[in-house]
Amino acid sequence: MSKKRLPSPQECIKLLDEQGCSPEVVAHCKAVRDVAVKIAECTGADKELVEVGALLHDIGRSKTHGITHGLEGARIAREMGLPESVVRIIERHLGAGISKEEAKKLGLPPKDYTPKTLEEKVVAHADNLIERDRVQNIQLEIDRQMRNKNFEYAKKLRELHDELSALCGRDLNDLLR
Ligand SMILES: [Fe+2]
Repeated sequence: MSKKRLPSPQECIKLLDEQGCSPEVVAHCKAVRDVAVKIAECTGADKELVEVGALLHDIGRSKTHGITHGLEGARIAREMGLPESVVRIIERHLGAGISKEEAKKLGLPPKDYTPKTLEEKVVAHADNLIERDRVQNIQLEIDRQMRNKNFEYAKKLRELHDELSALCGRDLNDLLR
């Protein structure tokens, strides 16, 4: 696979299967893709890259469902020769981003996993807006994090949601309803 070429959506789904992702993970990735593409259209993000990144964001779940599945997925994608733009979407998709400090506390290799590009943000947040394979209002996720006393995470979720909603010109909860 050429380093520059993005795989087609069909190739992405084949890659998930070949890596051994469960049908539940594949269904989740497709649901995240549907939402991510809508947000990409609305915010002006690169739709093709977002679609590929969303379909492959959880490819690391073929190895582990733990916090390292983003890292595992990035490693797999790199080995496959996928473009760095896709690798970084996978590596930075966890929650609303993990800072270097948080990464240390979580036992991850200390580095900043915050989504930086618009495409990275769109995929990370589309994942936040999908519970298994259904759209959820972001407030439900924020409330859940507040109940678990993850205040910093809840704040970052709200900020990411507001940033993308502002770019879109409407609240993403309404866009996806
Ligand atoms: Fe994930």
